Amino acid sequence: MQIRAFAKVNYTLEVLGKRDDGYHALRSIVVPITLSDTLTLEPAEDLSCDTGYADDLCLKAAHVLRAAIGRPQRGVRICVQKNIPVGGGLGGGSADAAATLVALNELWQCGLSPEELATLGARVGSDVPALVLARFYGPILMEGRGERVAPLNEVYRHHLVLVNPGVFCSTAEVFRLFSQQGKSASSQNDLEPPAISLYPIIGDVKQALTAAGARDVLMSGSGSTVFGFAEDAETAQNLVVKMKQRGWDAWAVETYQP
Ligand code: C5P
Repeated sequence: MQIRAFAKVNYTLEVLGKRDDGYHALRSIVVPITLSDTLTLEPAEDLSCDTGYADDLCLKAAHVLRAAIGRPQRGVRICVQKNIPVGGGLGGGSADAAATLVALNELWQCGLSPEELATLGARVGSDVPALVLARFYGPILMEGRGERVAPLNEVYRHHLVLVNPGVFCSTAEVFRLFSQQGKSASSQNDLEPPAISLYPIIGDVKQALTAAGARDVLMSGSGSTVFGFAEDAETAQNLVVKMKQRGWDAWAVETYQP
C-alpha cells in the first residue's frame, strides 16, 4: 500500500506561555501543502522502517497504534521516499507519522476515526494530531502543546513558494532562545525572531524572497523553511528559479485540500 504524507506550513504561530510539563502552549493555523513524502507499507512479521533512525516517528506511530488496539503481534515494513526537508519546519517526520497512522488504520482494519487517530498521534509528536486531521479536513487550528486540534472549516487555494537555506533548526534550541528573548510583535510567527538570531541566513532568505516579489513572506514552524504567497503557479515557478540561483532549495506548491 502506498500513501502520500503531506507537509505543512504555519500561517500563524503564537507562543502563549510555558506549561508545567516544560512544553510551550501554542496557537497556530496549520495548513497542509502538496509537498509530500511517499510511504510504502507491506505486511511483515515485525515492525521496521527503512529510514534507520532509532527514534523514527513512523515506527513510533506503529508502536502506539499497535498498543492501542491490543494486537502486539501485528507487523509492517515501512519504506519512506523522502522529499520534505528534515529539520525544516515543514513537519516532515510528523507528516510521515500521521500517514502511518492513517495507513495502518486501514491495513490492520482498526476502524478508528480521524479524531481517535489524532489523539493517538499526540503520543508520537506535537505536530502529529494536526497533520492527521489536516489529511481529512484541510487547514487546522492547533492549540495547547499541539494536542488540541480542530478543523478551521476554511478552504484555502493558495500558490506558495518554499525556500530552505539548508540549515537544520533545532526546535528545542529555538524555543529556549524564545524563552530568553521573550515575545516580539514583529512577526506572525513568534518563533521567527529567535530562529533568525540563531540562524541569520533565514533573515537573508526572507529578504530575498520578498524582494523577488513573493507576498507575506514568513518562516514556517521553528524554521528553517521560509514561505511566501504567489499569484499563480507560473509566478511561483519563476520565484523558485530565482531562489535556486541563490543556491537554496526551493519548491512551488499549493495548499492541499482533501
Ligand atoms: O514535540 P517535538 O519533538 O516536536 O518538540 C521538540 C522540542 O521543542 C521539545 O522537546 C520542546 O523543547 C520544544 N517544544 C516546546 N513546546 C511545544 C513543542 C515543542 O517547548 N509546544
